[in-house]
Amino acid sequence: MTELLIKNTTLVQIREQTTTILKGKTLKELPVLENAWIRCQGDRILDFDTMDNCPSGQGQVVDAKGRYVFPSWCDSHTHLVFAAYREQEFVQRISGMSYAEIAASGGGILNSARRLRAMSEDELFRAAHKRLKQLIARGTGAIEIKSGYGLSVVGELKMLRVIKRLKAASPIPIKASFLGAHALPAAFKEDREGYMDLLIDKLLPVIAEEELADYVDIFCEKGFFSVGEAVRMMEAGNKYGLSAKIHTNQFNSMGGIEAAIAHNAISVDHLEVVNEAEISALVNSKVIPTLLPSAPFFLQDHYPPARQLVDAGLPVTLASDFNPGTSPSGKMAFVVALACIKLKMLPSEAINAATLNGAAAMELENDYGSITKGKKANLFITKPIPSIAYIPYGFTEEIVDEVIINGQLLGKQLV
Ligand code: NIG
Ligand code: FE
Repeated sequence: MTELLIKNTTLVQIREQTTTILKGKTLKELPVLENAWIRCQGDRILDFDTMDNCPSGQGQVVDAKGRYVFPSWCDSHTHLVFAAYREQEFVQRISGMSYAEIAASGGGILNSARRLRAMSEDELFRAAHKRLKQLIARGTGAIEIKSGYGLSVVGELKMLRVIKRLKAASPIPIKASFLGAHALPAAFKEDREGYMDLLIDKLLPVIAEEELADYVDIFCEKGFFSVGEAVRMMEAGNKYGLSAKIHTNQFNSMGGIEAAIAHNAISVDHLEVVNEAEISALVNSKVIPTLLPSAPFFLQDHYPPARQLVDAGLPVTLASDFNPGTSPSGKMAFVVALACIKLKMLPSEAINAATLNGAAAMELENDYGSITKGKKANLFITKPIPSIAYIPYGFTEEIVDEVIINGQLLGKQLV
């Protein structure tokens, strides 16, 4: 079995296997071990300790003096598979159009769906695979990817099959979410129910049969899908053993959170607009609130009330929402920076939210998200930095120096 020893380093986010999610006050505790070494054997973390009892390495040895070792980022919400960027809409927004207006005029998600229709499965796969490799080089070590730019039987299956191929080709774990209910396609403008029937009666059985998804998702928002439709989708998903991770409360508060709680969803994502009653409901549930600050940053919209959510005792999680419309970046270090700068999260809170809690939001917390003996060795070594807080502080800097995936040093050529 291959062995890798990293020495003279500071280990960040060291945990016992029993710590699986961090909420409220515990979110700001970020355990570190200074002047330390860590040893990986095969694809797992074997052990770690301080330099006074450093073993002699059996295999590759890395001296990480002045550098930190982190568990990889766990990005629990992305739309990584898409055909093209949408920078024309970015310009339209600068000129005064809103995201909703662009969507209502046939742009937005429907624009992405048109572009996706014109692209072959192979081309889509190649483009997404390239993006995935770039994200791995920037420290992402587990990721969730949604469909939702297909919006037809053929298109959604094409996307989900691309995600399945990515799973097979990827050295990092991928979770797939079926987001057929992302926008109502023009052909169903007068027949919302017909579209929901198509998703639930035609698509879900094939998705379940071919094991194309781990979760169902729906964009529960005015102008997109109602709470009733979200309930239908979650119930249908549950029948096939698929839990839900839903988009809700991005622009309006309309009951998506309560519905998600009632249907044992894994997470509710966005929460830019959230009220006291919804926060209390979340406190009494197991549903993970996932914040995606790069979307309001890019849309110049208001940010989720992260402080209120953390102070209420919730396991706040951070993800990138990488997509061509509202967040054309999957760089998790930038998400952590935004969380500190705009959401007033402490660096330690943001790092916990982007690692262990992100893993929990993909049900991967037993193997990823922290430096724990026996967990998968998905790690990154930083460049020499003065402190952990420097990561969000130096927000334009590339802080990832070397990446370790499944105990293998990928080297610097990727970064
Ligand atoms: O999470 N809000 C819905 N879905 C994406 C945006 C998708 C798009 O505009 O392409 C989001 O922000
Ligand atoms: Fe999203």
